[in-house]
Amino acid sequence: MTKTVPKMNDLTFLTEHHSVPARQLHEPAPDDRQLEAILQCALSAPDHGHLQPFRFLVIRGEARQRLADLFEQAARKRTPDDEVGIAKQRDKPLRSPLIVTVIARIIASPKIPEIEQILTAGCAAQHIQLACRALGFGSIWLTGGNAYDLSIHEALGLELDERIVGFLYIGTPEPGAGRKDRGDARRITREWRHPVQHDYSI
Ligand SMILES: Cc1cc2nc3c(=O)[nH]c(=O)nc-3n(C[C@H](O)[C@H](O)[C@H](O)COP(=O)(O)O)c2cc1C
Repeated sequence: MTKTVPKMNDLTFLTEHHSVPARQLHEPAPDDRQLEAILQCALSAPDHGHLQPFRFLVIRGEARQRLADLFEQAARKRTPDDEVGIAKQRDKPLRSPLIVTVIARIIASPKIPEIEQILTAGCAAQHIQLACRALGFGSIWLTGGNAYDLSIHEALGLELDERIVGFLYIGTPEPGAGRKDRGDARRITREWRHPVQHDYSI
């Protein structure tokens, strides 16, 4: 059986991947069918023990206004004297047409520690970002104080064993959001030999 070997230049999909600032993400957002396909991609994230330790909350349309109210109230509690910061938090959910909140659900397991489950949820989030781009959409992964604020957790219906991994802001990117210079991976890569010699590089 012949094996399909991807061409080296197919990797540009990954090397040129970049986030798009939330303010540069506009309508149209993925429609229901596209969103379903995008979220399906998250399920193939690496997942030790197949626990599927994550879930998603889709926030769009009028619900973004409610999230803006929540972000404002939470910011007012965290930093009551910072009116500029409070206004900024209120504005956040309104910047992009669609937000997918990725939530890690930590499942009690003697074998699979919490960190691995959170990493799986993070990989799920990254799969969503890549799937968005594959369909021509842009995205950015944001957290900030809201991701760790218990009043936000409560209002979004999180259980005690759940964490917000990130808010993925999604939409159609403005033209011109370019690729970034990422440096050279060889800079952070060494080939390990025994006994340890640190001066090898690939
Ligand atoms: C867990 C996580 C949380 C992040 N939270 C924020 C955030 O709150 N604010 C922010 O400006 N960038 C945040 N980022 C970084 C952006 O998602 C993005 O990676 C960054 O703007 C660099 O853009 P690039 O992905 O094109 O290199 C976060 C990234 C990760 C993985």
